[in-house]
Amino acid sequence: MKSTAPGKVILFGEHAAVYNRPALAIPVIQVHVEVEVLDSTRAGIWIHAPGIALQSELDALPDDHPVGSVIRKVFQRLDISSPPALDVSIMSTIPVAAGLGSGAAVSVALIRALSGHLGQSLADNEVNQLAYEIEKLHHGTPSGIDNAVITYARPVYFIKDKPLETFKVGKPFIVIVGDTGIPAPTKQAVGDVRRLWMRDQCNIESIFNEIAQISLIGRRSIESGRPELLGELMDQNHEHLQALHVSCPELDHLIKAARKAGALGAKLSGGGRGGNMIALVDQPKAESVAGALLSAGAVRAIITEIK
Ligand code: MEV
Repeated sequence: MKSTAPGKVILFGEHAAVYNRPALAIPVIQVHVEVEVLDSTRAGIWIHAPGIALQSELDALPDDHPVGSVIRKVFQRLDISSPPALDVSIMSTIPVAAGLGSGAAVSVALIRALSGHLGQSLADNEVNQLAYEIEKLHHGTPSGIDNAVITYARPVYFIKDKPLETFKVGKPFIVIVGDTGIPAPTKQAVGDVRRLWMRDQCNIESIFNEIAQISLIGRRSIESGRPELLGELMDQNHEHLQALHVSCPELDHLIKAARKAGALGAKLSGGGRGGNMIALVDQPKAESVAGALLSAGAVRAIITEIK
């Protein structure tokens, strides 16, 4: 049984999402995880994940191992106490710790492939729930947006603890994802925003409210086929993220380079302090803005069409 899951980027609302404000995220299908589960001729659950140099039997992995814990959770959820012998192979083109949701994508693809192979395929909402439990094990207090957009592989309008909304894209538009190459310390950035919020709730809450408005207007602009309005919203959202101290010189540098090369707007995307930025571009500018990002030091620039 094979299963795949895409990467993701957050268009608007990161960090505020943890505080129940709306956020928009989109799947990035140019990168993905593929998991294959097969019956094995040798006893045990053998995991092969060359991307993270992992070749091991499940029992040899510590309890909190990111891959091992997903497999154990699936067995637990399916009430399987003595699983059959399996070979599990995980291939990924999603860069790790880049804010593209590699961990959540591995969870989603693994949950689907394992449950399907064991004849107990799970519904999307169950896959999403299980992937969220894994995210909580590894990332502290995640909002759940990463596992949601990756499970449903569609643009999502996400509010923590509310039913998930997907939405239609009125007119396709192009976003470039530029990677600083600096590992994104999402858990730490989320923790630092928490400390800031505890010190100065009034101010930080009002920043979150501004970001919530941006997500709301962003969704309307996308649905009504006016994506060109997103550029200004990205710029505003980035200023709020700077005020939350989650940007860094390298992200700011790529954002400036994108704007200078003709992007309609740009912002950091995800936890910040490294990882990715995104820029909105008109089709004819896509290649030149991607080139400008690479010249400015991005280790990767992915051109993705949202439709
Ligand atoms: C990480 O992709 C997005 C954050 O808002 C954290 C979260 O929502 O879990 C920074």
